[in-house]
Order: sequence, then structure tokens, then C-alpha cells
Amino acid sequence: MTGSEITLRVNAEDHRIAVDNRRTLLDALREDLGCTGTKKGCDHGQCGACTVLLDGRRVVSCLTLAVAAEGASITTIEGLAPEGELAPVQEAFVRLDGFQCGFCTPGQICSAVGMMAEHAAGWPSAVTADVSPDGPGPRLDAGEVRERMSGNLCRCGAYPNIVRAVLETAAAR
Ligand code: FES
Ligand code: FES
Repeated sequence: MTGSEITLRVNAEDHRIAVDNRRTLLDALREDLGCTGTKKGCDHGQCGACTVLLDGRRVVSCLTLAVAAEGASITTIEGLAPEGELAPVQEAFVRLDGFQCGFCTPGQICSAVGMMAEHAAGWPSAVTADVSPDGPGPRLDAGEVRERMSGNLCRCGAYPNIVRAVLETAAAR
């Protein structure tokens, strides 16, 4: 094994840890740092349960090496509710019943935060009709949310209320 000593900045706190260079960010978060809100579903980049934010952009942490995340600001689901105060999107998921078992929910919520920032920056998706530079920019409707969140699977099928929670949060921003 080849290992490294790295510093991971997670939810605004630095953590110095020794890792195998092949260790995933997901395993480092869960097993080394105790951030068990980040879930391991498939461990193959297919379900989105392990989604976290790296410098505000969403990534699947099971396909990200911990050593590659050094120097970035990492936000997990725990970091969205510092001192227990829910972020608006978390509050909307609770109020609108955007989950059943909750296993996919941390990934859904981190993904929603990243997705809303992408949309606010004018990034189009595969279903954006008008991608011309002079166009109005993508309107965030249910179809856009479904497409942009399609990397986050929910085995309980809570999709209708997930979409409602994201739309309501985006509209209130
Ligand atoms: Fe990472 Fe499924 S656990 S995408
Ligand atoms: Fe159960 Fe999504 S709420 S997997």
C-alpha cells in the first residue's frame, strides 16, 4: 500500500488523516471522520447516495479519491445544518415529505443544492429547449429538476415530492 497524510477540510473544519492513496472520499468521510450522513449505496457511481459538495459543486464521493479532495472545501449533509438549523431545502424535504426510508435523502439534498447553483449560473441541461447565448436561460420546471437530479436514485420512489421540495426551494430563493 502507498499512503499519504492529507488534510481534508470538511464542513469548515480541517482534519489531518493518513489514508491509503486508493481510499475513496466516501470511505474517508464515513469511516475516518464519522460523517455517516453521507451514504454508501452502490459504491460504483450509479445511485448518487454518496453525493457531497466540493467547492460548491456536486460530486459522487465513491468515485472521488480522498487524496484528490485535499485543498477543496467539502460540504456534507451535516454541514448544511450547522448547529441543527435546517437549510431551506432540508426544511422543504421534511415539510413536503420528500423521502420515505431516507437513505437517498442526504445525497438528494446535497445534489439539489449543487443543482440549484448550476441553474442559477445559467448552465443548461439536456432538456433545456433554448440554449442560445441570447436566450432567456433555463426555466426551472419539473422536467428540468427531474433531468438535473437524474443521477440521484430513490428506491422508495419519493420522486414527486422530491421535485416539489426542490422547486419550492428554488422559487423562494
Ligand atoms: Fe456513490 Fe452510489 S454510492 S453513486
Ligand atoms: Fe428511500 Fe429514497 S427515500 S431510497
